[in-house]
Amino acid sequence: MELIKEERLMLKGKEGEGVQKAMEILIALAEIYGAERMIKIKSAQLAGVSYKNLGDAGLEFLSEWAEKGARVKVPTTLNPAGMDLENWEKLGIPREFAEKQLMVVKVYEKMGVKPTCTCTPYLVGNLPGFGDHIAWSESSAVCYANSVIGARTNREGGPSALAAAITGRTPLYGYHLDENRKGKFLIEVECKLGKISDFGALGYLVGKKIGNSVPYFEGIEKADSDQLKALGAAMAASGAVALFHIPGITPEAKLHNMVSESAKTIVIDSLEEAYKELNSQAKEIDFVAIGCPHASLAEIEQVSDLLKGKKVKASLWVTTSSEVRESAKRKGLLAEIEKSGAEIVADTCMIVAPIKDLGFKNMATNAGKAAFYAPAHCGVSVRFGSLDKCIEAALTGRW
Ligand code: F3S
Repeated sequence: MELIKEERLMLKGKEGEGVQKAMEILIALAEIYGAERMIKIKSAQLAGVSYKNLGDAGLEFLSEWAEKGARVKVPTTLNPAGMDLENWEKLGIPREFAEKQLMVVKVYEKMGVKPTCTCTPYLVGNLPGFGDHIAWSESSAVCYANSVIGARTNREGGPSALAAAITGRTPLYGYHLDENRKGKFLIEVECKLGKISDFGALGYLVGKKIGNSVPYFEGIEKADSDQLKALGAAMAASGAVALFHIPGITPEAKLHNMVSESAKTIVIDSLEEAYKELNSQAKEIDFVAIGCPHASLAEIEQVSDLLKGKKVKASLWVTTSSEVRESAKRKGLLAEIEKSGAEIVADTCMIVAPIKDLGFKNMATNAGKAAFYAPAHCGVSVRFGSLDKCIEAALTGRW
């Protein structure tokens, strides 16, 4: 593989052991994927933040890297952590877990990472431009960045995204190259899409059918940013989709020849199968989770409207970044939501927080991705439906 002088010096350890180790990781990756050279990146986004997933071994691995002098060279943000970094006590997070989680975030901060813990970094300042090369690792954010923004990233793992942040480089392969960005499946959507949950349901079906391929949709006439993030998140979860195109909506769909000649066609004429497969038979609901991917201000506003003057029976979390919660506070939405007994929980989410330890058994959500992951990752039964239905469940404790 061809390295420029600066990269060769990094590899030789001229910038310290931490940078050398990062370059070694990237070169190993380049060899696996046949990349011929490195490219500079504009930003990074790191998974591997929740102590629930990292454990002591992960914390130790990161601490050692930081001790070796590793510091990020590009703006870098974090994925959701295992708890609200400010209000963890109020949520009942065990102290021992909290202390370890705060240590993880501290180690990242030592490396120069901004402690913004969110899967929607593009809503709070980590916003790449069209064509920018980046190294992101949260799968829903990868899908959004590639598809809706037109930036270029592979689905990085936590260590490879961190290595890219530390060197400011990533190997040139995969979705960084034009030839891999064409639609390989033509998805003809012949059913109506309205609510965010419909986009999650569609994403679930498509991801399941095409795995890690690139879908080019026909038949979706409009979709807002929240619906697109739900669609991408679900496809990235049930499959490993990292890029999709929708003519008239996503920026690369209009480029010449964006559907590969050998593309196969799949028709989706009903979402029933998804709603059926993502729903358990649970009748009692003790936990409602909205905000997967992390909620935008518009989504928080909808929740606040639905809760006005009412009291919840089940616990209701709206998960988002601390920056968006701050904006919600300024608009009076936080006070309105808290008046109902619900919470806006920042920095974490229903999947990476230890919600089983908090005693929750049956969760309702409007997110296809959360509905897909929660049974296996959190050990809860799931009900999946529209936002209205989820809020109704929070108010009555029933589905
Ligand atoms: Fe984000 Fe957690 Fe969903 S990381 S995409 S809210 S599973």
